Amino acid sequence: MVRKRVAILISGRGSNMAALLTAAQDPRFPAEVLLVVSNRADAKGLTAAREAGRATALVDHRGFGDREAFERALQHELETHRIDIVCLAGFMRLLTPWFVSRWQGRILNIHPALLPAFKGLDTHARALAAGVKIHGTTVHFVVPEMDSGPIIAQGAVAVRDDDTADTLAARVLAVEHKIYPMALRLVAEGRVRVEAERCRIDGLRADDHILLSPFIEESASRGLR
Ligand code: GRF
Repeated sequence: MVRKRVAILISGRGSNMAALLTAAQDPRFPAEVLLVVSNRADAKGLTAAREAGRATALVDHRGFGDREAFERALQHELETHRIDIVCLAGFMRLLTPWFVSRWQGRILNIHPALLPAFKGLDTHARALAAGVKIHGTTVHFVVPEMDSGPIIAQGAVAVRDDDTADTLAARVLAVEHKIYPMALRLVAEGRVRVEAERCRIDGLRADDHILLSPFIEESASRGLR
């Protein structure tokens, strides 16, 4: 097996990055993380990546005249490391069609909501305000339109009456850390086909978990299903 070469793009804490690094430590995982790029020098994840012995790059968007110049610098880093797949993990810059088209089908993002609901920021507070009973996270291919693109995998949690945005975020984050490595594995194995905006998984097995739902499993174990 030739492992796919992955770069992770971050802007902050980097807990999803850490989950991907952990998964990729297993030599049987079909992808290895060769590079972590941040657009912010103070991103905590950058320090964590260095401590984990990964190559890191800082491409500070403020140092460039326009978005495309920034993205050309990003592209240069990715090409230098011969990257096959890009994972956005809390990367807080919008990418232009110029960049996205270069990575079509090879660039993934994780969003903290069940898309297409709650695109954008403050998803947990908005989910609570909307009164939804199920909330979660989505891994999808990136397209120029923000928080859109074919859905690879989703993870759901039940919203509790006493949830705050923070308690809900914490439960969703725990699911994010499971579902992102799973989705990357499927893409790295070349098993995700996009047909008419939908992802189809070749040879889907029970352990592929394109839907992860701890709360349904929890309910089932309590005989609620
Ligand atoms: C996550 O909630 C992710 O879904 C969103 O930004 C957050 C990043 O968190 N895109 P972390 O930096 O991975 O800890």
